[in-house]
Amino acid sequence: MLNGERLISRPLRWGMVGGGRTGQVGYKHRTGAQRDGTYRLVCGAFDLDAARGRDFGVAIGVDAGRCYADYRELIAREATREDGVEVVSIATPNFTHYEITKACLEAGLHVICEKPLFFSVAECDEIATLAKAKGLIVGVTYGFTGHPLVHQMAAMVAKGMLGEIRIVDLRYTHGFNAGDDVGAPEAVKWRTNPRTAGPTFVLGDIGTHLYYLSEIVLPHLKIERLLCDRTAFIPSRAPLEDHATVLMHYHNGARGRLWVSSVDAGNMGSQRYRFVGSKASVEWSDSHPDQLLYDVQGEPNRILHHGMPYLEGESLAADRMGALHTEGLGDSWANIYLWIAQAIDAKRRGDEAFLTTHHYPGIEAGTEGVRWLENCVRSADACATWVDFK
Ligand code: NAI
Repeated sequence: MLNGERLISRPLRWGMVGGGRTGQVGYKHRTGAQRDGTYRLVCGAFDLDAARGRDFGVAIGVDAGRCYADYRELIAREATREDGVEVVSIATPNFTHYEITKACLEAGLHVICEKPLFFSVAECDEIATLAKAKGLIVGVTYGFTGHPLVHQMAAMVAKGMLGEIRIVDLRYTHGFNAGDDVGAPEAVKWRTNPRTAGPTFVLGDIGTHLYYLSEIVLPHLKIERLLCDRTAFIPSRAPLEDHATVLMHYHNGARGRLWVSSVDAGNMGSQRYRFVGSKASVEWSDSHPDQLLYDVQGEPNRILHHGMPYLEGESLAADRMGALHTEGLGDSWANIYLWIAQAIDAKRRGDEAFLTTHHYPGIEAGTEGVRWLENCVRSADACATWVDFK
């Protein structure tokens, strides 16, 4: 169980690009990073609007002199300080991730970047090579995968409690874009434009969360083929999609079905995961992250609760609140940030042995998300035909 004791040798000097006053995701980063004393926010280029970014930075306790107009100034000015920033989080629209990540790595800074990581696998591979050459970590904020019961599902699958996996059922849908985009906020405008969002809208925006979580639970299952059907119910969003269905064939014969949509009018249920094996199934939703359904064929269905001693060690190790007291998204983000901090700390100490067994969402996780998107787009653009997974 985690209790806030600092698990790394000293706090990391941390900066943010984006995530300012108007940004949706910035606070989740700060909630996660600042929980365990592992990161100290020392600087930022928080906003496209430099004055608003500075005002915001000061309001959250950053020195005015270290609230910069943009990431280039942040990198250049911090490099001149003895106590300059060491790790930078990137919480900006998708099209900026690659260039900001590259610039930070070239300047010797670790990076924690939002998903979808970049636009192409080629960009991911280039950045992975750069990070390796520089001895730096790239973390990716798949923020839902810090929930303890996600790791309970993974442990149960690994122990064979479900039997052979047959069916993977994934859904992340909401209705926030059910209407048209006239007068839409910036966060919708950039998401529905291929220049700023990349090759996908909902597949990258929310589908990559489903895909990464399924990879954590089923690391041994590899997709062999997939079929993706995508459409834009609001025509102005084409060629990007506001709704998609993906069918997946895995190497062991298992079948997968994934549904992402931002036009699922009225749905506030968000994410749902069901993994079905030959003996039993588990089902989890981010709406009730403290509970896991465990359905054994022929037995009464069970609800497992977080923090209880009957859970696997992997799940209990990620627990923060203890049984009876609810855990939430902030706790999940805190775990993701902690695991990335431990990776950065190990790099800093030259402890490569630690890194061979330590699990955190890194560049490989970001790359696999982008690879999955490339395959989805290839299938969808060929009129929703089956394609071999490359
Ligand atoms: P947003 O549009 O709400 O906010 C973007 C923020 O970045 C704003 O503060 C804006 O001023 C700032 N910004 C834009 N360009 C900048 C630049 N070049 N330099 C400095 N600041 C800049 O976007 P939102 O929803 O916060 O998404 C940002 C990223 O986070 C996206 O990649 C998105 O996919 C991801 N995201 C991830 C979530 C997760 O659960 N991991 C949840 C929501 C978003």
